[in-house]
Amino acid sequence: MGKLTGKDLITTIDWEKDDLIKLLELAEDMQKNRYHKKYTEVLKYKTFMMFFYNPSVRTRQSFETAATELGGHAQFLEPKSMRLKTAKTAGETVEDAANVMSRYGAGLGIRILEDQISAYGEGEKLLREYAHYSSIPVMSMAHDKFHPMQGLADIMGLRKHLGKKLEGKTFTLVWGKGALARSWSSIQEALVLYSRFGMNVRIASPEGYDLDPEVIDYTKSQCEKNGKKFLITHDQKEAYEGSNIIYSRNWMTPNAYANGSLDKQGEIEKSLKYNDWICDMEKMKLTDDAVFVHPMPVDRGNEVTDEVASGKRSIIYDIAENRLHVQKAAMMMTMV
Ligand code: CP
Repeated sequence: MGKLTGKDLITTIDWEKDDLIKLLELAEDMQKNRYHKKYTEVLKYKTFMMFFYNPSVRTRQSFETAATELGGHAQFLEPKSMRLKTAKTAGETVEDAANVMSRYGAGLGIRILEDQISAYGEGEKLLREYAHYSSIPVMSMAHDKFHPMQGLADIMGLRKHLGKKLEGKTFTLVWGKGALARSWSSIQEALVLYSRFGMNVRIASPEGYDLDPEVIDYTKSQCEKNGKKFLITHDQKEAYEGSNIIYSRNWMTPNAYANGSLDKQGEIEKSLKYNDWICDMEKMKLTDDAVFVHPMPVDRGNEVTDEVASGKRSIIYDIAENRLHVQKAAMMMTMV
């Protein structure tokens, strides 16, 4: 048993920075020695249970691949076919489902966001409830507030392309118009994690696209602690100028759940009015040869142009690959 055996990973905030660095170093070694026998039997005979309330491409495939490469198995479960109790239907409680999964599996991943919640914060609450009743580690596979595996995959990509010393690099999170109405999970994880790794943080968006004030306060406090700058602006030029990392992503407004369910169409219509909020080559020229970061799926032509997303400074595919390595590392550290 390791020091972190049984530990949940709902957000990286819950982990010591030294342990996150160990996880990244392990992931980097796993990338280099992908099929080495020191890793291929780590999860032998063990199963990772996955509850997907929402669809996924990368998360499902990378977790399944991760379990296979570690000698175990990942099992895909859709809560809609599990007779779980919800606000609207009778069924099995979280307490019962979590206890039973703990008797079968070695870890439990949960994804819940967008239209599967009726108010921001419900997803986080549900994950914490599962964690409370589970005796196996619970991992977020993206929920309304955070996406820890995505944040770790980003940092692994940045360490490769900008060097292991990320301190002092300037990270710009810039809102992009979009036809998908995105949750705050990936971007909020990036804010809390990148600030802990000593980066200057800039957030740029049109007015009305504020994020969770608790996440903003945490990010600001990390920047202050590290002696780094923190900026919120509505001016794209100010945001891009001299930046080392551009992360362009659509996100929904804080009013998205005002009527008790996600107003997806309203969010999309509002968003598409901001024609100039797209990451393009002209704006990238303002940066200090910044790398382009995105968790994918990319809304090309809205959040970012093809020229940037497929350009030579884009590291989106490396980051997508890193999901596999960081998840393998997280599973090895918490499930064995
Ligand atoms: N980045 C990410 O989580 O991708 P999927 O939604 O495809 O899993």
